[in-house]
Amino acid sequence: MQTHDNYNLRDYNTLSVDSVCSRFTTIRTLSDLEALPSSLKISEVLVLGEGSNVLLTRNLPKLVVHLKPRSYITQVDKLVVAWAGTRWHDLVTWAVERNLGGIENLALIPGLVGAAPIQNIGAYGSELSDVLVWVEAYNWQTGIYHRFSHAECHFAYRESIFKHYDKPFIITRVALDLRSDRPFNLSYAPLKTYFSMTDEKPSYKRIADAVSEIRRSKLPDPKELPNAGSFFKNPIISRSQYDKLKRKFTDLPMFPAQQDDHVKTSAAWLLEHCGYKGARDGDAGFSKRHALVLVNYGEASGQQLLQFSTQAKRAVKQKFGITLKEEVRII
Ligand code: EPU
Repeated sequence: MQTHDNYNLRDYNTLSVDSVCSRFTTIRTLSDLEALPSSLKISEVLVLGEGSNVLLTRNLPKLVVHLKPRSYITQVDKLVVAWAGTRWHDLVTWAVERNLGGIENLALIPGLVGAAPIQNIGAYGSELSDVLVWVEAYNWQTGIYHRFSHAECHFAYRESIFKHYDKPFIITRVALDLRSDRPFNLSYAPLKTYFSMTDEKPSYKRIADAVSEIRRSKLPDPKELPNAGSFFKNPIISRSQYDKLKRKFTDLPMFPAQQDDHVKTSAAWLLEHCGYKGARDGDAGFSKRHALVLVNYGEASGQQLLQFSTQAKRAVKQKFGITLKEEVRII
């Protein structure tokens, strides 16, 4: 286990902001994990994978436990079980190469497998919760591994119990039910259009390739332009609020929500219609390619990014009466 004091996390968050933590340790194996002091309180620890869904706004008087990206995937009793440090996209590639379906629409989502259930990652009409069977987590205070069933995870749109859990835990393994007879999900317009324009028949592999191509064309690569993907969740509003807004803003998008009498609308659309697509203040800005992606054009601090995003959020509230909620974890 490698440990450093006063360590800058700039290379460990995809928004590339400076934030110095008091201690930093890298976890490679379960025995590294089991060596964590049981006396550590929840408030003294931050678990960080690739840092692709966080905005660090300050220095951290904490121990940062960094899961070293390293892929390890097995098949146990027909389930696909992946070590938390596996890169999510490596798992998608592994599955589609074996003609196992269920996560092909989630291709190219950045981050590690261990982070995926926390926000119930989703894209192109699929969510991790559609195929997840259990999540295993380690409690560093008791030294006990607990297996959360699907029901215990309390999944919802970009939500799970892990965002609110009040016990010390580090996710160690995730089990998925991936199968060769799962129907293809081409319900989202960009995918439907993609396959209607070629003679290619869909397969899990082709869908993953198409999703990767669509994502690359729309979303900036954090290696070239630091960002953390969608910064806000797409808001879920009542059908009556949507109908009212639609009268004034006739092309306001609508997607199905998992709640009765509610619909999901597009945060990107709302931001774009408040003038935030491509807008910037110093080095903090929203992508020119996708209004929902907050980007760091160089030396923006976490505070500057937070301020700019708060300004955008206020503008959306004023114009549409909708309160955007951050999808990215603000720390
Ligand atoms: N749109 C705009 N302006 C833009 C970009 C998009 O008006 O600058 C409109 C589009 O015209 C479309 C709607 O917004 O009507 C939706 O856009 P898009 O399909 O690009 O998806 P999104 O709603 O912005 C969500 C997820 C993504 C996921 C895609 C595809 C959330 C918060 N984001 O984005 O997830 O990849 O759908 O399914 O749900 C992520 O979570 O980091 C992420 C990238």
